[in-house]
Amino acid sequence: MKESNELVFFVNGHKIVEKNVDPELNLLTYLRKKLGLTGTKLGCGEGGCGSCTVMVSKYNSFQKKIIHIAVNACLAPLCSLHRTAVTTVEGIGSTTTRLHPVQERIAKAHGSQCGFCTPGIVMSVYTLLRNNPEPIMEEIEDTLQGNLCRCTGYRAILEGFSTFAKPSSCCGWNGSKNDCCKGQTGASQLSPRLFEPSEFKPLDPTQEPIFPPELLLLHESQQQTLFFKGEHVTWIQPTTLKELLTLKSKYPEAKLVVGNTEVGIEMKMKNMLYPVILAPAHIPQLNMSQRTETGILFGAACTLTYIGTFLKQAVDELPSYRTEVFKAVLEQLRWFAGQQIRNVAAIGGNIMTASPISDLNPVFLASGCLLTLASEGNTRVVRMDGCFFTGYRKTVLKPQEILLSIEIPYTKKGEYFSAFKQAQRREDDIAIVNCGMRVAFKEGTDVVEELGLSYGGMGPTTMSAKKTSEQLLGKKWNKELLQEACLLLVDELTLSPSAPGGMVQFRRILSLSFFFKFYLSVLQKLEQDFKSDFQVESIPPEYLSATELFQKDPPSAVQLFQQVPPGQSPTDVVGHPLAHLSSIKQATGEAIYCDDLPCFERELYLALVTSTEAHAKISSIDASEALKVAGVACFLTAKDVPGTNKTGQIIMDETVFAEGEVTCVGHVIGAIVADTAAHAQKAAKAVKITYEKLKPIITIQDAIAHESFHGPPRKLENGNIDLGFAQADDIVEGEMYIGGQEHFYLETQCTVAIPRGEDGEMELFVSTQSPSQIQSLVAKALGVPANRIVCRVKRLGGGFGGKETRSSLLSTAVAVAAHRMKCPVRCALNRDEDMLVSGGRHPFLGRYKVGFQKNGKIVAVDLKLYCNAGDSLDLSTAVMTRALFHMDNAYKIPNIRAICYICKTNLPSNTAFRGFGAPQAMMLAECWMNDVVAKCGLPSEQVQKLNLYQEGDITHTNQKLEEVNIRKCWDECLESSSYHSRRKAVDEFNRQHRWKKRGLAIIPTKFGISFNATFMNQAGALVHIYTDGSVLLTHGGTEMGQGLHTKMVQVASKALGIPISKIHISETSTNTVPNTSPTAASVSSDLNGMAIHDACQILLSRLEPFKLANPKGTWEQWIFAAYMDRVSLSAAGFYKIPDLNYDPEKNEGRAFNYYSYGVGCSEVEIDCLTGDHKNLRTDIVMDVGLSLNPAVDIGQVEGAFMQGLGYFAMEELRYSPEGVLYTRGPGMYKIPSASDIPTQFNVSLLRESPNRKAIYSSKAVGEPPLFLAASIFFAIKDAIVAARAASRKTGLFCLNSPATPDRIRNACIDDLTEMCPPADPGTFIPWNIEV
Ligand SMILES: Cc1cc2nc3c(=O)[nH]c(=O)nc-3n(C[C@H](O)[C@H](O)[C@H](O)COP(=O)(O)OP(=O)(O)OC[C@H]3O[C@@H](n4cnc5c(N)ncnc54)[C@H](O)[C@@H]3O)c2cc1C
Ligand code: FES
Ligand code: FES
Repeated sequence: MKESNELVFFVNGHKIVEKNVDPELNLLTYLRKKLGLTGTKLGCGEGGCGSCTVMVSKYNSFQKKIIHIAVNACLAPLCSLHRTAVTTVEGIGSTTTRLHPVQERIAKAHGSQCGFCTPGIVMSVYTLLRNNPEPIMEEIEDTLQGNLCRCTGYRAILEGFSTFAKPSSCCGWNGSKNDCCKGQTGASQLSPRLFEPSEFKPLDPTQEPIFPPELLLLHESQQQTLFFKGEHVTWIQPTTLKELLTLKSKYPEAKLVVGNTEVGIEMKMKNMLYPVILAPAHIPQLNMSQRTETGILFGAACTLTYIGTFLKQAVDELPSYRTEVFKAVLEQLRWFAGQQIRNVAAIGGNIMTASPISDLNPVFLASGCLLTLASEGNTRVVRMDGCFFTGYRKTVLKPQEILLSIEIPYTKKGEYFSAFKQAQRREDDIAIVNCGMRVAFKEGTDVVEELGLSYGGMGPTTMSAKKTSEQLLGKKWNKELLQEACLLLVDELTLSPSAPGGMVQFRRILSLSFFFKFYLSVLQKLEQDFKSDFQVESIPPEYLSATELFQKDPPSAVQLFQQVPPGQSPTDVVGHPLAHLSSIKQATGEAIYCDDLPCFERELYLALVTSTEAHAKISSIDASEALKVAGVACFLTAKDVPGTNKTGQIIMDETVFAEGEVTCVGHVIGAIVADTAAHAQKAAKAVKITYEKLKPIITIQDAIAHESFHGPPRKLENGNIDLGFAQADDIVEGEMYIGGQEHFYLETQCTVAIPRGEDGEMELFVSTQSPSQIQSLVAKALGVPANRIVCRVKRLGGGFGGKETRSSLLSTAVAVAAHRMKCPVRCALNRDEDMLVSGGRHPFLGRYKVGFQKNGKIVAVDLKLYCNAGDSLDLSTAVMTRALFHMDNAYKIPNIRAICYICKTNLPSNTAFRGFGAPQAMMLAECWMNDVVAKCGLPSEQVQKLNLYQEGDITHTNQKLEEVNIRKCWDECLESSSYHSRRKAVDEFNRQHRWKKRGLAIIPTKFGISFNATFMNQAGALVHIYTDGSVLLTHGGTEMGQGLHTKMVQVASKALGIPISKIHISETSTNTVPNTSPTAASVSSDLNGMAIHDACQILLSRLEPFKLANPKGTWEQWIFAAYMDRVSLSAAGFYKIPDLNYDPEKNEGRAFNYYSYGVGCSEVEIDCLTGDHKNLRTDIVMDVGLSLNPAVDIGQVEGAFMQGLGYFAMEELRYSPEGVLYTRGPGMYKIPSASDIPTQFNVSLLRESPNRKAIYSSKAVGEPPLFLAASIFFAIKDAIVAARAASRKTGLFCLNSPATPDRIRNACIDDLTEMCPPADPGTFIPWNIEV
């Protein structure tokens, strides 16, 4: 065979020839590090976030056409790109050439906040448009299945891109249809749009770059076998089947790699090494597809996208009864990963991975697909049946064999097939349980002739419920069969209560629920096909919706805001929906994030070495093997810290590197410094640490039992609790657990440290919300005064509180390394490391006793609050304080007492997270309110409103409330959501449906604005005016997507009376504005805005004489005149919030500058059989004062709401009983995706509500709306109440947060749940625990 070691491909139209490519190198690293194309981002490295999306174009010689596919660059081996053309975000447009319409529209439609996800999203949509310039809205939504955004709440992205959509059932928000949601509410009359689509450049497909002609020519030449030998891995890409089989015989252990979506993950996340990789993607036999007499034959290397297209065509063309299995495959593909994965992943890869939760294998097993296996000189055909999978990830294939093809069979008349899947998140998630089910009836009867039931997620392999199937043969398809099937399945599909994956009861219930759905859908089909031939058991009409497949409804949204008054000067842009000032650069990939900084000369890379034990003494550390790894420069531990190894936030209770003892899994013990990231990470894994284990405390319950707390309990009391209970007509008692949350900022923690070589100076580029804190802690670690350290922040790819204090964990280590090596050192944490070490939102346990009167008036609340703080104090005291201050939510409680405990456990320290303890406490308030409502038997909204605060009320912290807008928001939300009529409609729906239930809930929020620690409520700004009149603005806040810099430029522009084009913000740095508070607590606009205003006033007063002297002059003339007159054109501004004087001893004084208010109303539909839920509609009314920028504020409201939706209804951190975090990436930890936004999503900013307490009458907005997502949780709970009522279960019940499918399903008690009781606690060790 002719071999070549030359990789030829194109990137953005430029030809690249690489010799001897390292097979371990992926496209993303190559683009970023070798080509400097940093527009493509690394968000996870495991195909789960889409921020690395690029377009790959190639001539497909099997399909005989050029195809364009969106691909995750992080999983694409560079070797696999021979003869392809790669297009990155830089290749489609830029600010210096021309913007591509995709880039323009996402930016101008406000679909980019922090911007880290933006290039990936741009490339997904760009690829769609290359293939289909006129997509329908649903195709646009589908194309984003594999792209996550943590900031925007997706609505703005979808709405921006809807301008590409041709109208289908919905006009895609463009108002062109009569029944458009925009028209319905009259939104367009009340508010202008947040952007103007008519300004958008048209999409002109003829302008797109062409496929490189040279590549087309190359395809006419013969392919050569490609051979690349790297340090550890050899990659061989044969061209013929014969060659492949010879190679497989020579290297039986070799892996066949097509999409690399399994192997890539195993190598990266599981540390597997496969020395030989065979790439069969170009072998004709493995890429064929063909309809045969008995079914459709696919070569094993056919991609899932291709299979979907081919099957869809067959379904369209063939009689429906023949394509039952194909439809099931298509249904599974609908929810299989995202487009980027499906575009490269092969059917053979899915089968041969033999994962117990493969989505396709249950279908293939139940339908009895035929597999052709080949080895050198041999071919055999096996049926996929219960014997095919021989163990966990094992099959009957012999080492020399490969899977050549699979035949998916046609079905015949009287044969039915269904497939089901339930996952934590509907889109792009692996299954909890899935299944394929087939039944064939004796001709002309409903007597079962053949039955195949296959399950994933019920054991170590895809399982066939053989016994059940056999026992049901010959039985009639009726209720008795259903009953018997369920009993048999319960018996056959046993799961140990300790089974890996957890959720054991739920999984067992699901196995029955799926059968029940199958049973009903078969009855329905029998009725349709054979009602004239025999009597089919009838289905009660209220059962019918149980068989419906999930349908996406066309999205719609309305945003209402107050326009600026008619007389406002045109140069005054405060109040205008200005796009985020960096959004265009973010969309073109030109915006620079910390790890995008070009490599510095002699730069080294750091990798952390962390503890694998939750609590242990370190017996030994052996780095000898690690130091042998190529490129390793040194290994650092506590003794290498030149200053103090003690570090921490409020108190110094942490270490830079662990000393003697570790207190959590993920505790940083040391660090490896090496020439490349790959070497550093490899070496870090080779450091051997032995431990002497100590007993860990992991959960809140453990901490309570062992009285393990950070400090003494804290109490807050107001009124007379005993008197309150004495006045009560009734009392409820209960408890609620509210799980933690991972920040999941798309950009992980990152630091680059550059020693300056003299006087101990060091410059750090950090992705942090607290530059001053980094400066201070690095100075301490290095043993130098703070004036030697400069911390600089250009922008963050999201923070949400996770980069308020925890950034220092990495920055101090990197600084120590840079100091030691005397050269620049960089580290951007991998997603799994970041999630492991950096902590998140505190899990809370709340216990309550609430006294109330018959009309629902609350008279006494007695609470105990526990939070899981982890191993260090960090900000937990402040978090708990905020929880205490918000435990009333928006309700006046005359008598209240709370005692709170900060639990000290062996988990990584939990920290700040948007809302900062308030959401947990407010959730508890709504939980007890929900119980009170249930007990009173009165309408929820009546009881809630009765208790809402009024003007002049005194809070439980004894602060008098002024300008209370909560009732205004409440009434407006009730009205705009048509709450009362929809309540009736929901009740009616529930009467008509047994297995789908709807729920509706309305939730208020009141959020106190200012830092709890009074001293932090200060800010500085520095304004320079240069002689050309341009202004450089600097302030203490960091830009993390929330639009702070945009708002601050608006403020400065108004204050100085100049256009925003004259003002620039370059970065935040400690050498310009010192001693800054973190960008947190929602107050950054308030504080920095005022400081900027102050600086501007100083400058204006200096300019005054020059204006007077030349009243008709220009800004530039005044500036120049002032300069010539030797007037300083630089001013520092300062601001502190006045009158903050809360005294915790006396519980009096002003704790907050003011309060923000809001109300959210949500409607959901749950599937009572699977626990799935659909967010039907949300209406929000939010009080943001006079908005500085309605587009930014609405973006914050939507983003916060969606983050809250994840928190209360989706995201679940899962820990082992030993304190190991399992959920360490987007694969296992699910944040909301675009399809999770409420189908109808309406946000209205309260009108006429100026706020005297903040800059230009605005209000803070970052955190307050998050809690409104509790309306989703309580709507779910409302639906569960209806489901339980249908099973005659009434009375209070506890639903912990988040309301995940397993919690929902387990709460919907029915006959199936009764068949699967949970194992007795204490009789087994669970796989995961609630911490
Ligand atoms: C983000 C993400 C989401 C995912 N979501 C899902 C999901 O929703 N549902 C699901 O089921 N899976 C999911 N997966 C798993 C994976 O994408 C699929 O299993 C995919 O089909 C694997 O195909 P591949 O070509 O990428 O496999 P590769 O990684 O290239 O190979 C996988 C394995 O198959 C073997 N193999 C491949 N072809 C052959 C052959 N012809 N003969 C013998 N052995 C062969 C390889 O040696 C290797 O062991 C997901 C993966 C990722 C990264
Ligand atoms: S970085 Fe590639 S998908 Fe997340
Ligand atoms: S804008 Fe999408 S992650 Fe920040």
